[in-house]
Amino acid sequence: MDVSFEVRAEAYGRFMGRYSEPLAGRFATFAGVVPGRRALDVGCGTGALTSELVERMGAEAVSAIDPSDAFVAATRIRFPGVDVRRASAERLPFSEEVFDFTLAQLVVHFMQDPVAGLHDMARVTRPGGVVAACVWDHAGGRGPLTVFWHAVLDLDPHAHDESQLAGAREGHLTELFVAAGLRDIESTMLTVQTRFRTFEEWWEPFTLGVGPAGDYVRGLDTERRLELRDRCASLLPQQGPVDVTASAWATIGRTP
Ligand SMILES: C[S@@+](CC[C@H](N)C(=O)[O-])C[C@H]1O[C@@H](n2cnc3c(N)ncnc32)[C@H](O)[C@@H]1O
Repeated sequence: MDVSFEVRAEAYGRFMGRYSEPLAGRFATFAGVVPGRRALDVGCGTGALTSELVERMGAEAVSAIDPSDAFVAATRIRFPGVDVRRASAERLPFSEEVFDFTLAQLVVHFMQDPVAGLHDMARVTRPGGVVAACVWDHAGGRGPLTVFWHAVLDLDPHAHDESQLAGAREGHLTELFVAAGLRDIESTMLTVQTRFRTFEEWWEPFTLGVGPAGDYVRGLDTERRLELRDRCASLLPQQGPVDVTASAWATIGRTP
């Protein structure tokens, strides 16, 4: 699907970074990332997972790709020792069998062709190496944007939320991994918690134009935007902090 990720790194950080930064450690642990190996971060964004990989393995052992120019530039600045390239999962600019761990955190649902993307991730992974991916449980109502999309669908029942996207429902990542030829497949659910001090701090990132939710808000006129904001507020605590629990399906598989 075509969504907006040509946004400032800082905007991404305020929107999805609040969740993807804490998710990265859990995801790397589930994938079994250990020092002394090489890893590729596919769809690195602004480097939430790259950071975790660098901490565990050292910058020289880590490569990262993303199709967004803005994110590639931001990740290069943030991690000068990491090999960061502009590319897509479906056409990775690496030879075969280079990496021990090839990981895609919150990316499969944005790939034009998820099976082709996972297949190319397997191609660049050494035999017996690990391919791993995770996607928010949008279909199960446990993603970080569940309240937002509930409010949207209350007001606009024909809107497209993210529940139909690849990997966003139970078992679907496993199906995609099988189709991509991976074996010894295991899945789990990873959960993170984030606290916003106020409703405004929760709402404001939706207005920054990041991802499908940001695209949706950008497409509303002022009146409908206010209506959506008010509907979201009615679904959240009226006072005090907003605590969000967000869960992602995570799957690992090994290359034959
Ligand atoms: C939700 S962000 C996740 C970024 C980062 N992995 C994180 O956890 O914060 C989705 C990322 O996938 C990237 N992306 C979209 N389509 C892609 C594709 N076909 N191959 C690789 N990355 C893609 C976007 O540019 C964006 O950086």
